Amino acid sequence: MRRIVYCSQSTHDFTPDELVDLLGTSRDNNERDGLSGMLLYSSQSFLQLLEGGDAAIRSTYERIAADPRHMNLRKLADIDVPAPTFPDWTMGFEHVDDEELADDLDGFTPATLYPLVNPDLITNAGVATTLLGLYAKNRVR
Ligand SMILES: Cc1cc2nc3c(=O)[nH]c(=O)nc-3n(C[C@H](O)[C@H](O)[C@H](O)COP(=O)(O)O)c2cc1C
Repeated sequence: MRRIVYCSQSTHDFTPDELVDLLGTSRDNNERDGLSGMLLYSSQSFLQLLEGGDAAIRSTYERIAADPRHMNLRKLADIDVPAPTFPDWTMGFEHVDDEELADDLDGFTPATLYPLVNPDLITNAGVATTLLGLYAKNRVR
């Protein structure tokens, strides 16, 4: 099983409708392809963890990387893992506001003060995975 974690910046501020649309497509495709994972959106920044079979992960990531709705993709992990982190979610999702993120993460500077959230926030895949796990645990579905 393969895991990819990346962060990116959206090209514009997503409306709720746009997020719903993005998640709908992602969940349908991921269910079809046997993928699971979690997506975090905050201050025009995405952080996503995707897990599944090698071929499916690779082709999905290629589609995602070519998506004009975001840019500056930075891959944080591309590794073999023994088991999925979020086996029940075709794509878990959390939209966090800056204050919430600042409360949860030591040293985080809200994007309103510093526009480039991702390079500052996500220093490595460990931080990314921890962050996703934190929101996964707290979320209600
Ligand atoms: C931040 C972000 C995350 C995405 N995550 C997924 C995903 O997990 N699975 C997926 O199939 N598509 C995902 N997409 C959408 C793909 O880029 C692409 O639009 C979609 O896979 C095309 O599917 P379709 O050919 O069924 O329309 C994501 C796009 C963005 C911008």
